[in-house]
Amino acid sequence: MRYSSYRSQFIPKTLLGRGLLGELEPLIVFDNVSAGYRVLKGFWSLFPRVRLVLHNVSFTAYPGDKLAIIGESGAGKTTIIKILLGLLKPVSGRVLVFGKDLYTLKSSERMKLYRRIGYVPQDPGRSLDPKLQVIDILAEPLEAQGVPWRIIEDKARKVIGFVGLSDKVLDMYPDQLSGGMQQRVLIARALIHDPEVLILDEPTSALDVSIQAQIIKLINKIYEARRLTLILVTHDLAVAQYIADRGIVLRKGIIVEEGALEELIKEPRSEYTRLLVKSYMFE
Ligand SMILES: Nc1ncnc2c1ncn2[C@@H]1O[C@H](COP(=O)(O)OP(=O)(O)OP(=O)(O)O)[C@@H](O)[C@H]1O
Ligand SMILES: [Mg+2]
Repeated sequence: MRYSSYRSQFIPKTLLGRGLLGELEPLIVFDNVSAGYRVLKGFWSLFPRVRLVLHNVSFTAYPGDKLAIIGESGAGKTTIIKILLGLLKPVSGRVLVFGKDLYTLKSSERMKLYRRIGYVPQDPGRSLDPKLQVIDILAEPLEAQGVPWRIIEDKARKVIGFVGLSDKVLDMYPDQLSGGMQQRVLIARALIHDPEVLILDEPTSALDVSIQAQIIKLINKIYEARRLTLILVTHDLAVAQYIADRGIVLRKGIIVEEGALEELIKEPRSEYTRLLVKSYMFE
């Protein structure tokens, strides 16, 4: 499928969750994926083995989707993102991105896919290089593609304004910025190459409540303006509800529930989702 056809399949929010998803070409498919990390400590360093942290995970994201991956700390949310970004090869199962089997592709082909994805990592403070000015942080994804500096500067100015920051920020260093501003810079970096998919890993959890609301507003604005597909990782059901339409609930590396968020919150089927909903109500 060609570049334009995924974007043209964008479906407005109102149509999601009404049984229309099945007719679209999937954008991301996790098919029975199990994955884990090598255990290298102590006795096991003699017999390296993988401790599984994801167990037969299957889900699909469609163009225009706003999908939340919900679960408590250690559930395996970031591990799913690492797999999506080609950073952790599953032990078994298949991962399709834009219709391509990610882990059988040549690295040059994989690089082409990454250009279509924007990624906002967990923990803004630690994800920004303190030695780089914001303009250089924003330039990174485009420099890697050989884009001329004049165009990079122009795009940086546009995107920094779009995320609600002034041009002056371009000459500043990360430690001169507040947590909310740092998060906006990371979002700008993820958007500068005009991706079709935006992946956000816990975009609000490091921020004060009032700043959280601003970032949620920004994410919703991005979705409306850029017509992209959102994959949101969060431990917070309220954040999921403000941003996403559909959710998968992950517990200890297993999907325990999946569906339209509204229904998932109103009528949770699994015991674990029920607990999440309860703690959300009492907050
Ligand atoms: N590099 C690593 N090496 C070994 N184990 C890891 C590594 N990264 C994560 N894990 C383990 O894998 C499991 C899932 O971790 P993951 O980071 O995916 O969880 P998470 O849902 O993103 O949690 P959080 O909300 O705290 O970010 C955890 O048990 C974690 O300790
Ligand atoms: Mg995580």
